[in-house]
Amino acid sequence: MEETLDDVNDLNAEKATNSDQIKHIRIGLIGAGASGLALLRAFEKIRETNHVIPQIVCYEKQAECGGLWNYTWRTGLDEHGEPVHGSMYRYLWSNGPKECLEFADYSFEEHFGKSISSYPPRAVLHHYIKGRIDKSNVQNYIHFNTVVRWVSYCIDREKFTVTVKDLKKDTMTSEEFDYVVVASGHFSVPHIPYFEGLDKFPGRVLHAHDFRGADEFVGKNLLLIGSSYSAEDIGVQCHKYGAKTITISYRTRPMGFKWPSNMKEVPLLIRVIGRTAHFKDGSIQENIDAIILCTGYLHSFPFLPDDLRLKTYNRLYPSNLYKGIFWLDNPKLIYLGMQDQYFTFNMFDSQAWYARDVILKRIILPTRKEMEMNIREWLENEEKVVGKYDAIDFQAEYIRDLLQYTDYPTLDVQHVAKLFKEWEDDKDENILTYRDKTFPSVITGTMAPKHHTHWIEAHDDTLETYLNEHRTLSNPI
Ligand SMILES: Cc1cc2nc3c(=O)[nH]c(=O)nc-3n(C[C@H](O)[C@H](O)[C@H](O)COP(=O)(O)OP(=O)(O)OC[C@H]3O[C@@H](n4cnc5c(N)ncnc54)[C@H](O)[C@@H]3O)c2cc1C
Ligand SMILES: NC(=O)c1ccc[n+]([C@@H]2O[C@H](COP(=O)([O-])OP(=O)(O)OC[C@H]3O[C@@H](n4cnc5c(N)ncnc54)[C@H](OP(=O)(O)O)[C@@H]3O)[C@@H](O)[C@H]2O)c1
Repeated sequence: MEETLDDVNDLNAEKATNSDQIKHIRIGLIGAGASGLALLRAFEKIRETNHVIPQIVCYEKQAECGGLWNYTWRTGLDEHGEPVHGSMYRYLWSNGPKECLEFADYSFEEHFGKSISSYPPRAVLHHYIKGRIDKSNVQNYIHFNTVVRWVSYCIDREKFTVTVKDLKKDTMTSEEFDYVVVASGHFSVPHIPYFEGLDKFPGRVLHAHDFRGADEFVGKNLLLIGSSYSAEDIGVQCHKYGAKTITISYRTRPMGFKWPSNMKEVPLLIRVIGRTAHFKDGSIQENIDAIILCTGYLHSFPFLPDDLRLKTYNRLYPSNLYKGIFWLDNPKLIYLGMQDQYFTFNMFDSQAWYARDVILKRIILPTRKEMEMNIREWLENEEKVVGKYDAIDFQAEYIRDLLQYTDYPTLDVQHVAKLFKEWEDDKDENILTYRDKTFPSVITGTMAPKHHTHWIEAHDDTLETYLNEHRTLSNPI
């Protein structure tokens, strides 16, 4: 059927009304880590194509964006007396191949002007995250040094009120929003269990959140509690930098890697007497110098009232979130990045693009009942997950589901899942050398070059040294 002038006029009028509605929408975004920045990027992408976008105000309590990737030497409280967000430490290198987290709309090659190895150190990944942001000017939306103190919702007016503190000016203000997006991360508030005798232990006891580098543990006997990524990585890092022995105590099951001779896994710690640790199987370890609790983190949202607050443990599909994003009781409250994470940056992007399109009404959410049923199906599938391969496939399926509805650039999620499985196999083969492996980019197809230094010998993890191909190699691969 032919389009008449009236039809075109109607369409234009409808577009104008939509644009007018959109520009009055206000979004309060909490956090400018990888998840929050993904949402800013998603909106910026369509603004660049002359589309009207809502008013977005992003509150970030740190002085810089990048979330956990923004390293701080501080522990405990920051310069403003706020709890330190950072859990990352010096000498932290990516624990998965960078090809598994590459943004589909901004490749590593585009950012660095060349292909780089598959497991970069923290500073390199921070540079990459910031590069995409600097390019699109989304920094303009961010109020740095501003912590969100409280969020409330008025049912009658259908508005959120967000109360924040400007940490530099020492002032409190409130603003109203139609949507609130919580992208405040969930690996910052340590989970700290008690073990008998810790109060009398004569050495240092700390949580992984406060670990900043292995240097202080050279020549020491360490006891680590936990059997996940923090225990694994802090353990091998301490080995790399010269700790004498590392004993890792597990609760449910050991990680089972082929550890170097000064590392071992033992059952759960029962008590500490003096410097001697006693384990569930009756074995002991003497002369412990320090204990590092690698016992995970709490989802913590001190700025949210009970009826808006996600309460969950670290899992692949937190309940009460439709599509893993929308708060079931009030879908105008949006959570990004709350899942346990195999996929990271590209998962946050998938969520952000989807959330953006819901806010813009390009995607219409189903009824509450349908959302509830959908969540239940995902939770039932999550229960069937057995082992790491299943977990990877589950998260890949989750991302694939989101991506099919948005214009996020093509991302071969299945291919990424395959790389993740190879990564798992590499770790099983050798926990000290897996970071020397290389993978092809899922975005550009380019094979990553080998790094100039084996990871175990690369003690200088600065951006400059990492990128310097011309340095004299004492140990080329
Ligand atoms: C030790 C460690 C190592 C990791 N290593 C890797 C890795 O190698 N590869 C990988 O892919 N992933 C890794 N991760 C996973 C990590 O969770 C993600 O890569 C990513 O940082 C998550 O981004 P996010 O934006 O969701 O959260 P975050 O990075 O935590 O960012 C949240 C932001 O919200 C801000 N914020 C919090 N509360 C408030 C408030 N009340 N008001 C204002 N702002 C607030 C914070 O300051 C922060 O900037 C690691 C995590 C940890 C803890
Ligand atoms: N780049 C890197 O190298 C790097 C390094 C560190 C962390 N990370 C990231 O940081 C995130 C968090 O990892 P995480 O290891 O800190 O947390 P996590 O994956 O949530 O694991 C928590 C661990 O603590 C154990 N635990 C909890 N309570 C315990 C208790 N009371 N007694 C004994 N053990 C207990 C759990 O044991 P059960 O199995 O028994 O529950 C589990 O092994 C991950 O996304 C990871 O990728 C990355």
